[in-house]
Amino acid sequence: MIDIDKCRITHYPAGVLGGRAEPVEEINDNIRQLVDKMIDIMLKNKGVGLAAPQVGVPLRLFIISLDGSRENVRAYVNPTVTPSGALEANDEGCLSVPGIYTKIRRYTKCEVTATDLDGNEFTEQAEGLYARALQHEYDHIEGITIVNRMGQPARIVHRKQLKKLQDRSEQ
Ligand code: NI
Repeated sequence: MIDIDKCRITHYPAGVLGGRAEPVEEINDNIRQLVDKMIDIMLKNKGVGLAAPQVGVPLRLFIISLDGSRENVRAYVNPTVTPSGALEANDEGCLSVPGIYTKIRRYTKCEVTATDLDGNEFTEQAEGLYARALQHEYDHIEGITIVNRMGQPARIVHRKQLKKLQDRSEQ
């Protein structure tokens, strides 16, 4: 049972962001409440995607709304994301890595298979921003953040902000 009231945005380098998340066993009211809470947190922070580990819950579940609107939010439970196409670098940020906006290489296309909140499995082909968002959120449930994906030059550029986040987590 997840305590929904305790769900808060987690920031790098929180441990929950660095581990592989567990499958959702059953889509029940508790999971639906978690998703509602994640939607509120994502919209409040003006994000376009949010994964459960980012609110402190190590489950394989994320949400995406490419235009940041409530009506276009979709939930992906126990997803599989299979990238294809070429690699392309583009700017990315992450609500769990505040203050850093940096070029990340992602595949231009991917296929996603997941279960929705009604328990129905679906498969989609994605490209562009949608493909990028799916790969970013899938990384979160595999314990990977943009900090892991940054190249050495970006790490140097953003070293002060990375140190600030590390120092803050030790307080
Ligand atoms: Ni993120």
